[in-house]
Amino acid sequence: MFRVAVVGTGVVGSALALLLQGKGHTITGVCSKTGLSASRLAERLGCTCSSKPEHLLNQGEVVLLATPDRELEGVARQLAESGMVRENQVFFHFSGALPADILSPLKERGGIIGAIHPLQAFASVEKAVSNLKGSLFAFQGDERASEVAFQIIKDLEGKPFMMKKEDKPLYHLGACVASNYLVSLLHFAVSIYKYMGMSTQQAVNALMPLIRGTLANIESLGPVQALTGPVARGDGNTLVKHLEAIERLDSDLAQLYKVLGRYTIRVAVEKGSIDNNDAEELLNIFREREDKSVRR
Ligand SMILES: NC(=O)c1ccc[n+]([C@@H]2O[C@H](COP(=O)([O-])OP(=O)(O)OC[C@H]3O[C@@H](n4cnc5c(N)ncnc54)[C@H](OP(=O)(O)O)[C@@H]3O)[C@@H](O)[C@H]2O)c1
Repeated sequence: MFRVAVVGTGVVGSALALLLQGKGHTITGVCSKTGLSASRLAERLGCTCSSKPEHLLNQGEVVLLATPDRELEGVARQLAESGMVRENQVFFHFSGALPADILSPLKERGGIIGAIHPLQAFASVEKAVSNLKGSLFAFQGDERASEVAFQIIKDLEGKPFMMKKEDKPLYHLGACVASNYLVSLLHFAVSIYKYMGMSTQQAVNALMPLIRGTLANIESLGPVQALTGPVARGDGNTLVKHLEAIERLDSDLAQLYKVLGRYTIRVAVEKGSIDNNDAEELLNIFREREDKSVRR
């Protein structure tokens, strides 16, 4: 079991601290920028709350740096310059986009560094605590940090994944598309139903069974065979009707619909439900509407 200090007690830092304490690790102290979230968490955990991150260094053998990405370099420098980093003290950050090297000032002072990225959306501490089990955790960093990381991931009931530093931007992009842009996509669908007079909640309730069914199809059939709808059927007339309706409502949404439609043609060809000639016909519908909107 590790003695763990937590710098940054937002959704990620708080959820990890609660889960790790639940698995028998000792949370030695926590700190945050304003101190508010840290004092709330310290009360829940029964540990100390510090106003400065360097005050946590004498207790924690593992230090979790769960600040926003933009703060990591400065916090690492601040800790390194305190002169209190201990030989072989282990430091992790949780950014999916940044490499472990962002913590190199700590390595120069004898620390061991790594990045652990939980492939999960932490919308709130409570949701994260219940969703995290079974998630993939990508590790990148010092080999000696990997042993500690894998133990932590095991205790969080996650699935470890070794990541190359150069793959991090693409790995994070994929996560961003699957989670953040999925949210934006569903915001788009909800906003269309709101044009018909539904409230946001009514639209979400109407669409949720469809969304759940689609996700279940993706899980069992994969993202190609799961495709249904007018593009998969090569039904150009329906696409024309969609375009006429959306162009009357909102030209930005119409653009987004066309971009997604063109991408969906690629998926339908991969599925084999339309051939290249059908694909060309559907693409022409989008191109013609593009020309019309430019002329307008
Ligand atoms: N949210 C997600 O879904 C998610 C998923 C995977 C990975 N991550 C990664 O996890 C990390 C934390 O993200 P988050 O969503 O938990 O952020 P967050 O909710 O915004 O929390 C950030 C925490 O860092 C503290 N903080 C900010 N600057 C600080 C400083 N200079 N010194 C000490 N503490 C400081 C804040 O203090 P106050 O509370 O006082 O403001 C807050 O407690 C990021 O690297 C992020 O990329 C996030």
